[in-house]
Amino acid sequence: MDMSFDFDSVTERRGTMSLKYDSAPRRGKPAGILPLWVADMDFSTADCIKAALAQVSRFGVLGYSEPDEAFHAVLRAWFARRYGYSLQAEWLVQTPGVVSALYTAVRALTEAGDAVLIQSPVYYPFAAAVRDTGRRLVTNELVLSDGRYHIDFDDLSAKIQREKVKLLILCSPHNPVGRVWRRDELEGIAEICLRHGVVVVADEIHQDFIFPGCAHTVFAALGAETQNITITCTSPSKSFNLAGLQLSNIIIANKALRRAFRAEIGRGGYSQPSLMGLVACRAAYSAEGAAWLEALLAYLGGNMALVRAWAAEWPEIRFIEPEGTYLAWIDCRGLGLSPDALAETIEQKAGLWLDDGRIFGPGGEGFQRLNTACPRSVLAGALERWRGAF
Ligand SMILES: Cc1ncc(COP(=O)(O)O)c(C=O)c1O
Repeated sequence: MDMSFDFDSVTERRGTMSLKYDSAPRRGKPAGILPLWVADMDFSTADCIKAALAQVSRFGVLGYSEPDEAFHAVLRAWFARRYGYSLQAEWLVQTPGVVSALYTAVRALTEAGDAVLIQSPVYYPFAAAVRDTGRRLVTNELVLSDGRYHIDFDDLSAKIQREKVKLLILCSPHNPVGRVWRRDELEGIAEICLRHGVVVVADEIHQDFIFPGCAHTVFAALGAETQNITITCTSPSKSFNLAGLQLSNIIIANKALRRAFRAEIGRGGYSQPSLMGLVACRAAYSAEGAAWLEALLAYLGGNMALVRAWAAEWPEIRFIEPEGTYLAWIDCRGLGLSPDALAETIEQKAGLWLDDGRIFGPGGEGFQRLNTACPRSVLAGALERWRGAF
């Protein structure tokens, strides 16, 4: 590995207005707890991004901003090169985040009382975006068999018809179960949604975190018909650790969907995207950014190997092998503890702040989600504390 990429150094994040590190007391967590919950990374971002941000900072005029041609060109090249997806500049809409885009899509494309389907256990703001907007939540629970999660297509199809589902929020790759959906699985979803007039919001924010042997398929790239019913949510924020800069790129090829989505953004009173977000994104989606990302993926693969080995020595614990994302989904049901006792032991005895599986909805009970995007020494210490507490 190129030694200019350093993922081993431990950076003190306390006192930096970090949600992950500084919000423990406000959220009722013990002081000194080690945070491995919310999905941001403990790594400093790529040098090319830091240089681009420093240049804008030196320039010092930080007025309203708008993406330029160079921005569109790098974005198009990134998707074409990595995913074979050819997109047009006019399809792009910026929002301050993907969660913001989910809420916007739900409000723009459905009405109060309409059914929206999600596949649990899944990233908890999916359910919140449905409930908070007064829509009806329909859940197609994923099925765990032989250590792998699968889609129950019969249940999916039946619920879409019976509940008259208008919108499906797809998590691809899937947080927290770590699946990188295969093309045939995505085709199965597309076929059902096309047949029953369901719009798909494809949250592909984890697309750049794919482990060897798997490949990410852009849902909208399945074909022109599928593209026509899809809103693709992307962002450099996970891949390059830029969540604090609030920029995501939403791709909507269908003009009517795009117009409705834009109108809803307008009704929220939002117009111009973050300048630092745009600058960071343009720098990230470059050759230097790609090289940094490749080194990061190799490092995260090593971190996952550590978790795998740790779980292998603990018969009551099962590591769900991820195909993508930097999140480890750990089945703790074999410990035989109640969900409350499990959570309490991890928090109080191990001193670890993880995401309890229950927050991800049906199918999450008895699981814990561990964010592995930290220096290996930190991860090793956390795993030791976890084991020790039991
Ligand atoms: C699937 C998924 N979507 C969206 C987000 C958050 O996106 P944003 O910070 O852009 O709102 C996350 C962060 O963990 C995520 O896992």
